[in-house]
Parts: sequence; structure tokens; C-alpha cells
Amino acid sequence: MSTEVPWTSVLRSAVLWVLLAVVSSEVTAPALQAIVLQPGRMTALSLKPGPHLQSGQVPCPYSRGSSLVSFVSAVALVLVCVGCWRWLALRRRRSQRVLRSVGASVAAKLEAAAARAASSGSEPQLAGPKLRVLVFGSTGYIGQAVVHELAARGHQVTAIARAHSGIVGGHSLADVEQYFSGTGRVRVVEADVTDEASLTSALLALDARPEVAICCLASRFGGRADAFKVDFRATVNCIHGSRALKVSHFVLLSAICVQRPLLAFQQAKLLAEAELKDSSSMRYSIVRPTAFIKSLVSQVGRVRSGYSFVVFGSGEQVRCAPLSQQDLASFLADCLWRSKALNATLPIAGPGPALSKLEQALLIFHLLGKEPKLLHVPIGALDFVASVLRALAFILPRFAEAPEYCRIIRYYATESMLLLDQETGCYSELLTPGYGRTTLLHFLSKALRDEHRTLLEAQSMGDAGLWSE
Ligand SMILES: NC(=O)c1ccc[n+]([C@@H]2O[C@H](COP(=O)([O-])OP(=O)(O)OC[C@H]3O[C@@H](n4cnc5c(N)ncnc54)[C@H](OP(=O)(O)O)[C@@H]3O)[C@@H](O)[C@H]2O)c1
Repeated sequence: MSTEVPWTSVLRSAVLWVLLAVVSSEVTAPALQAIVLQPGRMTALSLKPGPHLQSGQVPCPYSRGSSLVSFVSAVALVLVCVGCWRWLALRRRRSQRVLRSVGASVAAKLEAAAARAASSGSEPQLAGPKLRVLVFGSTGYIGQAVVHELAARGHQVTAIARAHSGIVGGHSLADVEQYFSGTGRVRVVEADVTDEASLTSALLALDARPEVAICCLASRFGGRADAFKVDFRATVNCIHGSRALKVSHFVLLSAICVQRPLLAFQQAKLLAEAELKDSSSMRYSIVRPTAFIKSLVSQVGRVRSGYSFVVFGSGEQVRCAPLSQQDLASFLADCLWRSKALNATLPIAGPGPALSKLEQALLIFHLLGKEPKLLHVPIGALDFVASVLRALAFILPRFAEAPEYCRIIRYYATESMLLLDQETGCYSELLTPGYGRTTLLHFLSKALRDEHRTLLEAQSMGDAGLWSE
């Protein structure tokens, strides 16, 4: 990788020197003259009065040697500037070298962790009874993968979907049926999970009664209203509907961040978890995963196009070992067969060491073979934006959800997606169980080799994603 200073910055510096030289002769010369040349000692250096002086006029002592002093001071200043520029360039080259070596060492660390996971990591449970499984949120990022995983394990799947699904509601029911048709084991049923009565009647009308259920519902945007509508109300409707069907085991996809519930969607999820635990007629598994790989790769496109990677603060304050879509789907499917998953709350992270945001960014630069370019945004800027948005929301109701979105960004910029050690009150990588085989390194290496970028596009988060491609 090249460590040369870019030509644009050389040009910028050159323009700066010229400006400084001009300014120096205008501004610094009189000051230097005042120090160096005492009025009484002017004679030695003085020039003859110029032709512009009338007889009887006395030349100003400070302007006599001005051209010489201006020249000397300008040269001195330019030399100082060149020195500073060279020193800064050297420092920049050194820090770039350090950043590049961090990227390489993160890649090596992940490679070693993947090898360890391959030999000793927790394996998917590959044998168990074939069940009739009901899947809510089947059209989402995790829901789709869960449906495929269940079908691949031999289960019969009933996938609940609404008439228009997908990030922007762009998929019809026929599209969803077509998408799952290759599995041969999936039946798609239209139902409105936000309406308890119509959902329950649609479920009771099913000819083959499902035995177990997996719920991967989530509000698409995370705003307050949507969170309570989907993460709480609709999820509770699914719990009640499943109970009415006499489902024996309900697996709920939640999130690790509900441990420190500062956001509306986290509070909504906690209420749904509590409702499920109270549903004594059904056994439950509450799966609380760490960040998904999709939440970490939305800046790959920006970086590939030559833009900086945006990190909040130093980028070192939060860490996580992300989970791939496939690994989480496999973990959720395992819950149907693992006895340890019954009536349990299961925090789960991906394989490999937890990485800070800075390390994730440097890994991306390393794999793209690009010079690290980071844009550090102070956390305080988010607080400022949040207060502006709060004021705006107060005046304009259509901005009502905007402060919550800003709080979500701030939360992920300041809280690690690891298990919270109840004794110390700190996030602990050691206590966070890892699962699966796909590290961020594996995912990125595969995705960046893919010329059609389909793997990266599949991580699209739509309006809920920041800096998505
Ligand atoms: N992103 C992360 O890093 C992360 C980390 C840990 C945990 N989680 C949790 O993992 C879960 C799943 O995430 P995901 O990325 O798979 O979510 P997603 O892709 O946004 O999928 C959401 C699912 O819920 C359905 N849904 C949303 N609003 C609905 C509504 N009003 N009516 C009917 N269905 C509705 C969607 O159906 P449509 O297709 O019809 O919209 C879709 O099937 C969430 O609970 C999330 O909080 C996420």
C-alpha cells in the first residue's frame, strides 16, 4: 500500500505557503522590524529616501528596511511551514502505518479465532424430531434464514407474512411463496400480526396444527410507535395466537441490548419477553443476540468508493463479536432440539474476539487494500443533534420519532453488544457465549470477492440503515 502524501494535499500546502508568505510580508515584517531594527540604529541598513518623499519629509524608520526584512521573515515563515508540513506528513505516515498494522492484526486474530471455533466451537445441533413449525416475521433478514434453515433440517414450516412485505413493502405474497418454493417444505399464510383477533382466527384455520413457533418479528424502523406496535403488541398477539393453537414451545428472537433498556424498542421487547415467560402453558426460549453482521457492514460501499469510515468518538469505546444471518438462524433452529434452551434466556454472540468499531473499520480497509481514512464524529455532536430534533419534534409533530432515531444511534455508539456482568456493571467479552463459524473476516472476504455484490446487497437495511449502499 502506498504511503505517499496525496498530491491534493501537497497542492493545498503550496497554496497555503504562498498565502502565508504574502501575509507575512504584510503583517509580520513591521513587528520583526520593531524588534530587530531600533530606530536609532537604522543608518547602517537604511536606504536613501525614495523619490516619493518631498523635501523636508523624514522617511519612517520602520519602512526603510521593510523589503529586506519582509523577504527574510517570509522565507523564515515558509521554512517553518515546510518543517511543520513535513513533520505532520511524517506523523501521518507513521499513524497510517500503525492503523494498517492494526487492520492486518485484526484479520490474523479473526483467522485464529475461526480456526479455534472450527475445532472446539459450538456446533449446530443436527439431529432431532421433525416438527411442524410456525414462523412469524418470516420475511425479515433473520426470519427468511430461519425458514430456510428449518426446511433444510426437515421441519414442515408455516411462514406467516403480510400481503405486502419486505423493507419497503415491495414483495407480494406470491413473491414470498416463490422465494421459499425451492425448499418444498414451506407453506406461506397471509395474516395480520397486528390484529389479534384476525391473527388467531387465521391460525386456528390452519389444517395441520403447528407444534412449535419461532418469532422473528421486529419493528422495521425502531421508532417509539412502531416499537410498541410490533415489538410488543404484535409479538404478544403471536404469543397469544400460538397459545390458542396449543403450541408447546415458543422461541422469541429478542436482542442482547435489552439488558440496558434505554430505548423504546428495548422496553417493548422486555414487555413481550415478560408476557412470554408468564405464558405458563408454553415452554419458551428467549434468544438475545448481539449485533448482526448486516448492522456492521453498511459502510463498506462508502469505503470502497473512497469515502471515510465514520466512527463515533475514538471508535474504541464499544465492542462486539457480530453474528451472521446463517449462524443465528441455525442457533434459533437449535433451540427446538436443545433441552438446555427450554425455559431459558440465551444471550449469544458470533465466533471470534469482540472487535471495536475502529478495528472493524480497519479490517475493512485492510481487506479492500485501501489506506485507512476515518472520520471521527464526537459523541457530543449526537447530543446536540438530539436536542435540536427534540425542539423540532416539539414544534412539528411529523418529526416526533426523529429524537428516538438519534438516541438509537447514540446508544450503539456508546454501549457494547456484550453480556453485562451484573456484579461489575461492565460489559464482558468473557461472559458472552459465542456460536457459529462466520467471523466478520470470513463474511467480508467472501462478500468482497463477489463481483455482483449480492451478499452485501442482502445485508441492506433500507431506511433503517445508516450509510447503506
Ligand atoms: N440488527 C441487529 O444488529 C440486531 C441485533 C440483535 C437483535 N436484533 C433483533 O433481531 C430481530 C430481527 O431482526 P431482523 O433484522 O430480522 O428484522 P427485519 O429484517 O426488519 O424483519 C422484521 C420482520 O418483522 C415483520 N414486521 C415488521 N413490522 C411489521 C408489521 N407492522 N406487521 C407485520 N409484520 C411486520 C417484517 O415483515 P415485513 O417484511 O412484512 O415488513 C419482517 O418479517 C429484531 O427483533 C431485532 O431487534 C437485531
